[in-house]
Amino acid sequence: MPVHYIKSFTDVNALIQSWGIENYYVITDHNCETHCVSKLLGGQKLPTGRIFSFEPGEKNKTLHTFENGIELLSQNNLSRKDCILNIGGGITTDLGGFVAACYKRGIDFINIPTSLLAMVDAAHGGKVGVNHKHLKNYIGSFKPAKHTIICPEFLKTLPSDELESGFAEMLKHGLIADSDYWHDLISIDVQHTTASNWLNYIKTSIDIKSAIVSNDPLETGERKILNFGHTVGHAIESHLLHANTPVHHGNAVAAGMVIEAHIGISVTDLNSQSADAIKNHILSTYGKIPIHRDDIDRLIELMLADKKNHNDNVRMSLLNDIGDCGYDIPVSEELMRNALLYYIDL
Ligand SMILES: NC(=O)c1ccc[n+]([C@@H]2O[C@H](COP(=O)([O-])OP(=O)(O)OC[C@H]3O[C@@H](n4cnc5c(N)ncnc54)[C@H](O)[C@@H]3O)[C@@H](O)[C@H]2O)c1
Ligand SMILES: [Zn+2]
Repeated sequence: MPVHYIKSFTDVNALIQSWGIENYYVITDHNCETHCVSKLLGGQKLPTGRIFSFEPGEKNKTLHTFENGIELLSQNNLSRKDCILNIGGGITTDLGGFVAACYKRGIDFINIPTSLLAMVDAAHGGKVGVNHKHLKNYIGSFKPAKHTIICPEFLKTLPSDELESGFAEMLKHGLIADSDYWHDLISIDVQHTTASNWLNYIKTSIDIKSAIVSNDPLETGERKILNFGHTVGHAIESHLLHANTPVHHGNAVAAGMVIEAHIGISVTDLNSQSADAIKNHILSTYGKIPIHRDDIDRLIELMLADKKNHNDNVRMSLLNDIGDCGYDIPVSEELMRNALLYYIDL
């Protein structure tokens, strides 16, 4: 599943042409159709029927949108020789990858991530799927992209809040696997980093994720460390989405990392100075997510429903130190409650 690092839209186009794909179909959302697909095609329009574009947003990462995508492919009777290009953020690569994984039991797809989050995370590793009611990524499968193309030029039109959201996953990569990388990242000015400077950081993040995934593609062990910050983060994201006050995935994960680092002080070797350094950096970049004492019961319920749990125990991936993460660590309900309270009272 090669990753190609390409500096210009023209070179991305040339690379795709060089693969000699007979027919390709684009899956994208409306924003990326406007800002990314047309730029990639040099202003040319794709013939009708060759593009499936959906309403942006997590609330549309559903079986309903998935079905509409399948419908377009079936109307064109795509064969297994054809190929799908997913051009967009993580919602597009998750949803488009799932459409490709299921259509006629699977056809090839190429990921062209356009958000920072999708470049460093969602477009790699083969997890594809959609949400089910309030449960994130509850329906899905594993199918890696045939190729992934990284072109940081796309970041020029990405809204600044989306850039920050993606940056949280990069911080996570440093925290779980590489303390030097974490220290490099905390000195970055996220809003003023140029496309060419992003390229090196993006590559480091992809290398970290890919090394973990190749050791454990189906997430039976080590891959679980990529879920650091996500048990709590997903609960926050789902809860606020359901309450019609959605927050970005990365911002929810950033809060999740602060809360899970706090839990780590009680159950792993993480020292309180490191947990404080994580909290201070994340709060200064992301501020606080508006969760309150009244939300705690629901957040705990959502964590108990999390796919990563066995029996009734919540198991988390928690830091032993900055750059070192463990997984499958049982965490009591009392510790979760105390950590949520700690965050709420910050
Ligand atoms: N499969 C995985 O391993 C994995 C890992 C991490 C996250 N995810 C999933 O990724 C999703 C979040 O991804 P995301 O943050 O990229 O969300 P997203 O796909 O919604 O993209 C964010 C927003 O930015 C817009 N956008 C994207 N690129 C743009 C560009 N270049 N210019 C202008 N606008 C642009 C999109 O239209 C959207 O409105 C979540 O659903 C999460 O569950 C999956
Ligand atoms: Zn994530």
